[in-house]
Amino acid sequence: MVIEARNISHSFGQEGRHVQLFENLSFTVKNGQFVTVCGPSGSGKTTLLSILAGFIKPQGGEILIDEKNIVSGPAKRLRDKLLLSRISYMMQSASLLHRLNVRENILVAAEIAGVKKAGIKADELLEKLGLSDRKKAMPERLSGGEYRRVMLARTLVLEPELILADEPTANLDEESALMVRTLLREYAGDNKAVIIASHDEKLLSGSEKIKLK
Ligand SMILES: Nc1ncnc2c1ncn2[C@@H]1O[C@H](COP(=O)(O)OP(=O)(O)OP(=O)(O)O)[C@@H](O)[C@H]1O
Ligand SMILES: [Mg+2]
Repeated sequence: MVIEARNISHSFGQEGRHVQLFENLSFTVKNGQFVTVCGPSGSGKTTLLSILAGFIKPQGGEILIDEKNIVSGPAKRLRDKLLLSRISYMMQSASLLHRLNVRENILVAAEIAGVKKAGIKADELLEKLGLSDRKKAMPERLSGGEYRRVMLARTLVLEPELILADEPTANLDEESALMVRTLLREYAGDNKAVIIASHDEKLLSGSEKIKLK
């Protein structure tokens, strides 16, 4: 997948307050790349990820996925939905389904997406994330770090071509943060790319950066 932002601009205005987030921002991200979006709080990192996921329409510019424009034109058409279904967005505030246990939460996402051998893949991911003994736990019994690792497993099992992750290591203990960083870095491979918004120096170091101000 090739995702290209061409001169995108976005601002918010309310009650006389005008916040210009970015102006004429352009970049290209391709398979194999691990890219971080950095900048101070309020600079528009979350907004940029939401634009790339197709949730928010930028006020100016275009987003092209494999050369198809997802911003202007008939963005609600099935073709565009299929295009966007190859992208997974791990939102900071997303939550697990509280009536399903850890393993079921991962499998329900995989089932909807039609992932093959989902059970085996889910177990492998749980192993890598140090959660093998938490498979049957209900979400409310998980620690904050465990919870976030399950959310990452749920994203990874879908095998999207592009992962967008918003502050995936925020408020995690070092052990959990290390697992999350390692898995996300590993994920950016032959057919896959990862774009992360983060303040985490260890995640930013050595990565290609999209800098907002
Ligand atoms: N729907 C909205 N309506 C009005 N203003 C908004 C909206 N969404 C975001 N903003 C404003 O736009 C600015 C950028 O927000 P955004 O969440 O993208 O920043 P961020 O870089 O992710 O910040 P943080 O590091 O704190 O997560 C903020 O000033 C925010 O208040
Ligand atoms: Mg944010």
